[in-house]
Amino acid sequence: MTNTTDGDLLLKNITAQAPFPICFADLEKAVAEKIPAGPFGYIRSGAGGEQTLRNNRSAFEKYSIVPRFLNDVSNVHTSINLFGKTYPTPLIFAPVGMNGMVHEEGELAAVRAAQQLNMPYIQSTVSTYALEDVAEAAPSATKWFQLYWSTNEEIAFSMAARAESAGFEAIVLTVDTVMLGWREEDVRNQFSPLKLGYAKGNYINDPVFMASLPNDSFESYVQGVLQNVFHPTLNWEHVRELKRRTNLPILLKGILHPEDAKLAIVNGVDGIIVSNHGGRQLDGVIGSLDALPSIVSAVKGQIPIILDSGVYRGMDALKALALGADAVAIGRPFIYGLALEGQQGVERVMTNIYDELKVSIALAGTTSIEGLRTITLVKNDGMEVK
Ligand code: FNR
Repeated sequence: MTNTTDGDLLLKNITAQAPFPICFADLEKAVAEKIPAGPFGYIRSGAGGEQTLRNNRSAFEKYSIVPRFLNDVSNVHTSINLFGKTYPTPLIFAPVGMNGMVHEEGELAAVRAAQQLNMPYIQSTVSTYALEDVAEAAPSATKWFQLYWSTNEEIAFSMAARAESAGFEAIVLTVDTVMLGWREEDVRNQFSPLKLGYAKGNYINDPVFMASLPNDSFESYVQGVLQNVFHPTLNWEHVRELKRRTNLPILLKGILHPEDAKLAIVNGVDGIIVSNHGGRQLDGVIGSLDALPSIVSAVKGQIPIILDSGVYRGMDALKALALGADAVAIGRPFIYGLALEGQQGVERVMTNIYDELKVSIALAGTTSIEGLRTITLVKNDGMEVK
């Protein structure tokens, strides 16, 4: 991944070969044609009437850039620093569970793409492959482990410890999934990837989880996951206890309220992910980009802020970074790439988002992520926001 802007990043996509979907809408259409309705609906849909899903997109459309010109923008630098490491891009792989549903290599293919692109990869608790297999597949990738708390807390601690010994570099505790969202598409399609076993990787390899089962039948594994993965008692004391149990930095994923961001800092959390789970949990929720400015003000640069939910192109990433996010995480786009062409598909999707970001930074009139913080953004009613 070079840092110079050669001016023709788009033209490499115009070749004699069969075209790869260039934008999110094309990707989604291609995947809808390729995979069955059950898995496709599971990935695409949002909770309830999908207002949150729509809010995520419309939030980006509310902002416009007022570009500046006649600056030398021949050298664009997109590197960022997170938890003491430098990355060439501000893009991160969001934790997306059950990748075996769309490709037999599942998370192994996705993490290899992340390694190739030098982007942090967040592995889900509910992965098809175990975290140890993911670590082995991409030993030099930066890997963070997304933890779903467990009703039996010892399972959560066991998974966090396994992640630490397998070389994962952070724990991402997801706080918005204490119950499963009201997902009508899955009821319509009568589809549950969890019940089909796609989430088994980290569970069947966990000694504490396995010891908690009455027997080793498939049915008892499914029941065991269902009993543990939803944990409505989750509270700040659990966060403090996790902090005592691990040496890794802890991020909270799913923060939307500035007061929760402040509490995260008070409770010793090392970073937050502003996210509404891609619109999959509570319907009628604020678009994650709309939640960002007040959280940036509340956090005051004390800990890194990552944003996800609805970042589907480079310009979306640019707007989030301009509004103060330190990095953005991508969910559905990379899973669609995985469904279409495995590791190569993931790389193509993430590279397209990155290339558009790089071109856009230059065309907005600046040359770095720090420079983006100084550009002029207006709401579409013409009001200048910064
Ligand atoms: C997710 N997401 C998610 N989040 C998490 O913390 N653990 C998980 O296991 C999953 N699994 C999952 C599966 C699928 C199919 C999707 C689409 C999403 C949420 C994910 O990390 C992220 O918040 C959203 O995907 C971001 O929104 P976009 O980029 O998909 O709009």
